[in-house]
Amino acid sequence: MDMSDHPHVDPTADATRPRTDAAWLAAHWMPYTGNRDFIAAPRLLTSAKGAYYTDANGKQVFDGLSGLWCTGLGHGRDEITRAVAQQMATLDYSPAFQFGHPLSFELANAIVERMPAGLEHVFFTGSGSEAADTSLKMARAYWRTKGQGQKTKLIGRVKGYHGVNFGGISVGGLVANRKLFGQGVDADHLQHTQPPMGSFYKGLPPAEGNGGQWPGAALADDLLNLINLHDASNIAAVIVEPFAGSAGVVIPPQGYLQRLRDICTAHNILLIFDEVISGFGRSGGWTGAEVFGVTPDILNFAKQVTNGTQPLGGVVVKKDIYDTFMAAGGPDYMLEFPHGYTYSAHPVACAAGIASMKLLAQEGAPQRVRELAPYFEAAVHSLKGVKHVADIRNFGLAAGFSIDPLPGEPAKRPYDIAMAMLAKGFYVRYGGDTIQLAPPFISTPSEIDRLVSALGETLLATA
Ligand SMILES: Cc1ncc(COP(=O)(O)O)c(C=O)c1O
Repeated sequence: MDMSDHPHVDPTADATRPRTDAAWLAAHWMPYTGNRDFIAAPRLLTSAKGAYYTDANGKQVFDGLSGLWCTGLGHGRDEITRAVAQQMATLDYSPAFQFGHPLSFELANAIVERMPAGLEHVFFTGSGSEAADTSLKMARAYWRTKGQGQKTKLIGRVKGYHGVNFGGISVGGLVANRKLFGQGVDADHLQHTQPPMGSFYKGLPPAEGNGGQWPGAALADDLLNLINLHDASNIAAVIVEPFAGSAGVVIPPQGYLQRLRDICTAHNILLIFDEVISGFGRSGGWTGAEVFGVTPDILNFAKQVTNGTQPLGGVVVKKDIYDTFMAAGGPDYMLEFPHGYTYSAHPVACAAGIASMKLLAQEGAPQRVRELAPYFEAAVHSLKGVKHVADIRNFGLAAGFSIDPLPGEPAKRPYDIAMAMLAKGFYVRYGGDTIQLAPPFISTPSEIDRLVSALGETLLATA
């Protein structure tokens, strides 16, 4: 077949450089991307090492969001590369159902070791979105198994992000992720915890901020309103991120998570922490649960578990939940939880996970984040008062800047800022009316200084 006049074949293409013509690029419908904008001005990254990418023009770009909050250890880590290559050559795949391979058990134990006491059993998924939906299904199935099948309602939070599957977008609270997709899963939402613009709280907002004007921890009592409305006998679970990343880094006020925990316990509702961003270092501990001192019944993870190198997520549950399923499973040859993915506990992803867990421990990543966090906090808050900055929020190695919106186009200025930052050699994330930073754990103070001062200069130069 002569393909020479096919639009996807370019006989004049230079094999040493990636093709960037529109017909070629349009073959890939890119996720969460302005595809038309990308095709007009492609941003192609071709390699990465440490805290830097190299783009298709050979330019170095500082990784100001650790990929998508997932490569805290930096890119191109030899230990992970070797583990993955060796696993590919040894056992590239094994059936996820009815068979096991040793690595999943090793990784599950390494994860459990790093969890707060009581979270003891890991169910693997292929992503954070799958972890969210798995945890929600588990919560419903748990109550049904206990003879309380009417407990099905799920409670999320405004501004929450739990991935893109139907369960996740139903409990999620970012409207842009939901409005196109029609009916979801039965869910209601707590109020968000983002303080009023101009609060500029460092770390956790106080329980009673703004001279008592902002209710802070009392926001958790919103759960009591939802219990009044729906009745706890109908509610399966509450799912929240300990601190929300995708909404622009939204931090819980002091006492908030504990209050949610207490209400859930008092009313027999499962509490799920979605730690896809906050887990494995970014919060300055192994989990946000550990750092905030609040243990959920179910904890979801992904991203940093493999340092972003392989798709892997999972759900860790308390012993009682696991035991309940095991006890109700019927004959031993029957499965206890009819759920799982072809890529659950994929051997190559587990190899990457084991290597990442080792590196995180060897390099004391959670402690390093804890040590770097005050420096990072001071740096990002130095931009208070700079043009367009309406608020700054931070926790661990994560920071969100609310940007004064252009009339009718709240997402435009953050986009302009992110593009101008890229031109200066810094990758930062723009989302909604925010700019988000999450530098790698291996960042040096001077790299943080350069990132923040580039952002300051960019803000000043932005219309
Ligand atoms: C808290 C949280 N949950 C779930 C997800 C979805 O993860 P994934 O994109 O791996 O499906 C994300 C992704 O950013 C997240 O931040």
